[in-house]
Amino acid sequence: MKTSQLSGFYKLSSKERLEIVRDFAGLNEEEIAALGNTGSLGKIADRMIENVVGAMPLPLGIAVNFMINGRDYLIPMAIEEPSVVAAASNAAKMARPKGGFQTSSTEPIMIGQIQVTNVPDSSSAQVALLEQKQSILDRANEKDPMLVKLGGGAKDLEVRVIDTAVGPMVIVHLLVNVKDAMGANAVNTMAEAVAPFIEHITGGNVNLRIISNLATYRLASARAVFGKEIIGGEEVVDGIISAYHFAKSDPYRCATHNKGIMNGIDAVVIATGNDFRAVEAGAHAYASIRGQYLPLTHWEKNETHDLVGTIELPLALGLVGGATAVHPTAKINIKILGVKTANELAEIIAAVGLAQNFAALRALATEGIQKGHMSLHARNVAIAAGAQGELIDKVVEILVKEKQVRIDRAKEVLNNLSLEKKA
Ligand code: MEV
Repeated sequence: MKTSQLSGFYKLSSKERLEIVRDFAGLNEEEIAALGNTGSLGKIADRMIENVVGAMPLPLGIAVNFMINGRDYLIPMAIEEPSVVAAASNAAKMARPKGGFQTSSTEPIMIGQIQVTNVPDSSSAQVALLEQKQSILDRANEKDPMLVKLGGGAKDLEVRVIDTAVGPMVIVHLLVNVKDAMGANAVNTMAEAVAPFIEHITGGNVNLRIISNLATYRLASARAVFGKEIIGGEEVVDGIISAYHFAKSDPYRCATHNKGIMNGIDAVVIATGNDFRAVEAGAHAYASIRGQYLPLTHWEKNETHDLVGTIELPLALGLVGGATAVHPTAKINIKILGVKTANELAEIIAAVGLAQNFAALRALATEGIQKGHMSLHARNVAIAAGAQGELIDKVVEILVKEKQVRIDRAKEVLNNLSLEKKA
């Protein structure tokens, strides 16, 4: 009987774990070799997470043409989806004639939440907490002298009283400048450290002590102007603005609109070894902050009828302290970007999100996205059907022309082409 109950699995070497998985799943030697290949990660993989057996590589592409705040950047993007890197590069090219992207960002302030329940008097507790603000901040800062030395650390306090189905709660927000870290470790340590003092002040019980991924004080924004002639005329400008208003008024469309933005954002977040779940959670929560799920971008026309796009979202990214500083490929990608601060990285990523959204809306408002997608998809289908070398392009051409991008047809086409070649 196969069992997944494997006590002590974590104590084994990755090779031993791989053998267990091989026996469990009936993997062959080729599959084992592919799974166990940790690529540029090497042995580091085993130290990054638990129960490691290998690594899961993603293609890494470079988006070109990006000019941000007057400087040129090559942008590494790690993503499994075809078209994304090409679309970002194409959008960045179209932004250049009007100056590329202009970006800005706020200080890297993250929020640590401390949940206090059973508080005898919420209003008095709120006042008492604010009176003790400096002592609370001092206690938090004692936990991270390095961060404080760099100019960061706990800077401010907010106290909210919320009503819930199980009674009122006092929620303390510790506002921490995390400098070039993503901040989760620093903030969580501080939130845990001040909890006993907060119980003492409020007379309540502290339950959770954790960072919020809705990083409303750590925002990055980008803006670009796309000349109407460059993007296909005023009709295209209008089409994109209409698409934007569709998203603004309809959550079904808005989810897809924002998904397209995240195609670009996640790809750079992943390439730089950052926490894409944190960024995703923050982005979608921020998109809903007005009580309705809204687009992360805004599109309008300027006085010369050119298209103006802006984006604003929370981006909690780090250059120090996380996988970014450990993963060999992430380190190289940071070098390619040439960024020195987490803020600079956030601004670049905001620009990529805007570019990605522009590219998607332009394609959707004109020829549709399937034309571009289909030839890339056809390539994957042709390869899956067994095409190699020059036959790949020939199979792709036929599949796209026939509008039949299917594996069975690809095999037939390949067979015919191979027969022709032999004859
Ligand atoms: C596909 O990954 C992303 C798009 O659906 C985004 C959009 O519809 O705006 C093309």
